[in-house]
Order: sequence, then structure tokens, then C-alpha cells
Amino acid sequence: MQNISLADIQKEVKTLQIAERFFDSVVMFALSEVGVFAALADGPKTFDRLQAEVGGNVESLRATLDAAVALNVLSRIDGRYCADEDLLDCLGRTESPAYVGEWIAFLHALAGPLFKLDEAIRDGSTPGALFAKMGGDDLPAKRRTQAMDAYARTRGIEIAERLDFAPTRRLLDLACGSGTYSLAIVARHPHVRATLLDLPDAIAVARPIVERHGMTDRVEFVAGDAMKYQASKPFDTVLVSNMLHMIGPAASRKLMKHCLELVEPGGRLIVQAQYLNDDRTSPRWATLLSLIQRVGTPDGRNHAIGETTEWMQQAGFMDIRHHRLSAWNVCSCLIGRKPA
Ligand SMILES: C[S@@+](CC[C@H](N)C(=O)[O-])C[C@H]1O[C@@H](n2cnc3c(N)ncnc32)[C@H](O)[C@@H]1O
Repeated sequence: MQNISLADIQKEVKTLQIAERFFDSVVMFALSEVGVFAALADGPKTFDRLQAEVGGNVESLRATLDAAVALNVLSRIDGRYCADEDLLDCLGRTESPAYVGEWIAFLHALAGPLFKLDEAIRDGSTPGALFAKMGGDDLPAKRRTQAMDAYARTRGIEIAERLDFAPTRRLLDLACGSGTYSLAIVARHPHVRATLLDLPDAIAVARPIVERHGMTDRVEFVAGDAMKYQASKPFDTVLVSNMLHMIGPAASRKLMKHCLELVEPGGRLIVQAQYLNDDRTSPRWATLLSLIQRVGTPDGRNHAIGETTEWMQQAGFMDIRHHRLSAWNVCSCLIGRKPA
């Protein structure tokens, strides 16, 4: 029999550690979906108590809770399961400013499609439709806009404070998603009125969010295709936030040209994105966002700062500058001006 050396075993362990990383996500998604974090939000609980609250199959729940302890997602102290307070704020307490439950549910919907990334590589298939009406598994499309709200309200609304909106009167938020950025901008800058445009399924989600914030008098909605939108009057500021990665390079180039028509002379185009560096292998999250687009859209992928700047220049924008936001924010903005 062939001897297996310690070095070979170490190689295997190293490889399996990478292969098994997905169990962290599997356990977190399951606990989140069945309501374990919500159940633990008011304190540690015994298995029987937790089971009584979340229900379901006893053995599957027990196995998942025990694996969660082994993976350091939960702890068990004196026979009671508990979660770290930070995790509970993010996943168990909907009223917490750090709550990202809808974003985690979106990642869960994408997990199945992402496990078919090999198919996307082989034949360009899109198992995790991000656009409504693409067919197949459209749970990612259904969860997408609520997820954008969670992502933006807890991590992204910085642009409202960090960018200068003093000159802005009429803002067009092109591909607004949940409208969360515009809401933050109009809330902080009372002189701004915003037009929110997106495809009809996203506007149906954005409308009640804007109503809930009591901002309907400052905001108007347009349900339609950004590529075809004709405004009766150009805007002094157009925001295109986190959209270009969904449509890919060719359509992005076209959209930048279309934006030139939508911005008034001397006005600004702000293109916010989770930009790749020009090496395209960093930052980490920007490379992963590209994978989501490859399994969810026909043409999408994430873009680098350099290529996006070039498209804006080719469209006719000038003085294009890259504005970083805070160190923890994966988004940053390219801002260009239409010649006066
Ligand atoms: C990732 S979301 C970003 C939403 C929002 N701007 C944000 O930053 O949170 C991208 C948005 O682009 C919208 N979108 C994609 N293609 C579009 C098109 N051709 N016309 C209008 N909206 C489009 C999607 O419906 C989606 O809401």
C-alpha cells in the first residue's frame, strides 16, 4: 500500500479548507431564513425553546445549530444557544440601523445560481436571473430591490453627506432601484427635487419606501427603460448608481452618451459603482460582484475605474474625477461635467 506522507495530508487539509468555506454561508442563510437570529435577539435560548419558536424538523434544526457553534456563527453556553450582539443587530433586529437581513436573503437567493458558475463559464447561461422576465430561477430578481435598500441604507448613503449637492436643484436618479440614495439626498438637502427612474418592478418597490419616508412631494417616479428615457428638460445632476455592472460595457458606453443629453450644460454626471481597480483582481468584493452579474445577467460584469472614465470622456463629459468615500465603503464615484 502506498504511504501517505504528512505533507500530502497537509495539502489535502489546505484544499478542503477552501472547498468547505461555503458551509459558513449555508448555515448563516438557513438560520436567517428560519428566524433563529430573530428568536435569539432577546437573549440566549435552550434548544427546546428555540425549536418551539422556529418550528420545523427537530434533527435538522439541531444539526444546523450545532454546526453553527462549530463554525463560530453561534455559541452554546450552559446549554443555551446565543449569538454575538453585532450579528443580532445585523440579522435579528429589523429596527437596528445595522440590519441587513434583506441583503443576506438576496445573497441566499444567489447561492444556488452561483454554484452553477461553471455552467456560466461553459455556455454563458444565467441561472440566477437578476432582471424580471428572464425566466429560470427569478428569486434573485424578486429580492433584488429590497436588498438594494438594505445595502444602501446601512452602508451607502454617504454620498448624500460627502458630495456637494449645493448646486443641485433637479436630480435624476437613473436606475434608482429602491430610491434609497435619492431619499437620503433630498432629506439632507431640502432644495433638491428628484426624479426616480427604473424598470417597473423596481419602481413598484421604491414607491412605498418613498411614501413611508413622507417624501412623495419631493420625488417623482418614472417606470421605464433608462436607455430610452427622454426628459422634457435636462437635469443639473444625474446620478447613475450601481447600474452599469448590470448592463455591461457596450450598453454602459451607450448609456453614458445618453446621459450627456439628460444633463444640462455645466451640469454633473455622478457614476457611483463598486469599482474594480484597473488590475481587475482587486478589491475583493468588486471581483465577486462581477460573478453575480455573470450568473444573473446576459451582458453584465463589474467595471474598472479606468474604462468607466474612458466611456464618460468619450460621451463628452470633462473634468472627470474619482471620489472615494469612507474606507469601509465599497462604493466610490466618478464625477464628470458637461461642458457649459
Ligand atoms: C444594482 S441596482 C442599483 C439600484 C440603485 N441605483 C442603488 O444604487 O442602490 C441596479 C438597478 O438598475 C436597474 N436597471 C437595469 N437596467 C435598467 C434599464 N435599462 N432601465 C432602467 N433601470 C435599469 C435595475 O432595475 C436595478 O434597480
